[in-house]
Amino acid sequence: MNPLPVIEAVRDGASLPPGALEEFLQGYLAGSVEEYQMAAFLMAVVLNGISRDDLTRLVQVMLHSGAVLDLSHLPGPRIDKHSTGGVGDKVSLVLAPLAAECGLFVPMMSGRGLGHTGGTLDKLESIPGFRTDLSLEAFQEVLEAEGVAMIGQTREIAPLDRRLYDLRSVTGTVPSIPLIAASIMSKKLAEGLTGMVLDVKAGSGAFLTEEAETLALARTMVEIGEDHGVPTTALVTAMDRPLGRSAGNVVEVREALACLRGEGPADLREVVLQLATEMQLVANPGTEFHRTDPGGVTTQRQNGAQPVARDRAMDRARDRLDGGFALERFRRLVERQGGDPHAVDDPDLLPSAPVSMEVPSPATGTVVELRPRPLGQAVVELGGGRVRLGQNIDPTVGYADLIQPGQEVEAGALLGTVHAASAEAARKAASVLASAIRIGAGPTPARSLISHRISAQGVLEFGPVPPPSR
Ligand code: URA
Repeated sequence: MNPLPVIEAVRDGASLPPGALEEFLQGYLAGSVEEYQMAAFLMAVVLNGISRDDLTRLVQVMLHSGAVLDLSHLPGPRIDKHSTGGVGDKVSLVLAPLAAECGLFVPMMSGRGLGHTGGTLDKLESIPGFRTDLSLEAFQEVLEAEGVAMIGQTREIAPLDRRLYDLRSVTGTVPSIPLIAASIMSKKLAEGLTGMVLDVKAGSGAFLTEEAETLALARTMVEIGEDHGVPTTALVTAMDRPLGRSAGNVVEVREALACLRGEGPADLREVVLQLATEMQLVANPGTEFHRTDPGGVTTQRQNGAQPVARDRAMDRARDRLDGGFALERFRRLVERQGGDPHAVDDPDLLPSAPVSMEVPSPATGTVVELRPRPLGQAVVELGGGRVRLGQNIDPTVGYADLIQPGQEVEAGALLGTVHAASAEAARKAASVLASAIRIGAGPTPARSLISHRISAQGVLEFGPVPPPSR
């Protein structure tokens, strides 16, 4: 086939003739469309978008580029969550075993670092021995035994997403509603789920930085899920600062382990608990969040009146986390996927960087802002992410002990610690941290940690919530 007319049509915002998109994508899979032609197509989509019908076609080809799992033999709901990507987003490491502890089967298929954001696979692989490239057979065995398994896009499942994801990461073609929606939904739908929860990041560290785009992305993905008969709920969560206090791979594994031990950080713990609650609710669609407004408007503010089902789901998640059950399940998961389970209890067994450098505050005041995007980009610069296809990463580098917006700081006190392969690299990353922070007299312009809930029933907008208590 000649790929040019497809690239040119998207570039010019013209509609595609029937069958053209499918042929172009199949050609890429078969090798007759080159990487540079696909990169040009992706950039045209970023700049001009594609029609809703073409998005449906894109999802279909990506979904059916590999096997679609049939996990209907599992004796329980099959629910997964996926994030649109952020800095410091280690949620999946805590949430997946926790959701399994809440009685769900979690066949989780994750990605590697994408652009300035980290990826669950890279984080998991920083645990010595941990394998994310299990065969489908092994994946199902782990899932049946532990209720949770965590792998990457494979040659067998959504292989087109795997190739496009890697290419988008190194060609500046991530920030696009149709490309993000198709990437996430194709691999999630291939998992044979009975329900799905999305963590849609909002703020300057997200791929889409405008709130209207964030909400449109969430609505698009919820619609795609529902169109495929998979009940889907999205929570919009804050990415105008990093989530938690670390950004990198090993450093985030350490923080996820702390959260699994029932320790903080508070924002990570809150996002995990809310998503675990939504995963249980989406598994039992009859027990949905009740709208108190009989008029049928689709937007309302949180009024504090929560139905029992929600409370019960939240209590269960909290108990399983604080009781150490999710930690125990994560330990077994690590062992089953080839990792060293002792590293779960003794983080000193995780690899560490040769250089660590503390970054002192230049002033006294309130941390008014901590911009996540420069930190994510600095982690990539340190070697913790990729700028070329197939590049190896250094799992040990990144930021830890990050101060958070709203905290008071004295001049000379710690803003964060850089972990790096050399003193020179550490110095550069330290100066990025210093310039990503604004210290002033407050108040902090931070977003609500969880601002919206989007489902087939409509959009709920939550008012400002007080920071979690720990
Ligand atoms: N996560 C994905 O899997 N794909 C994207 O495009 C963005 C985040």
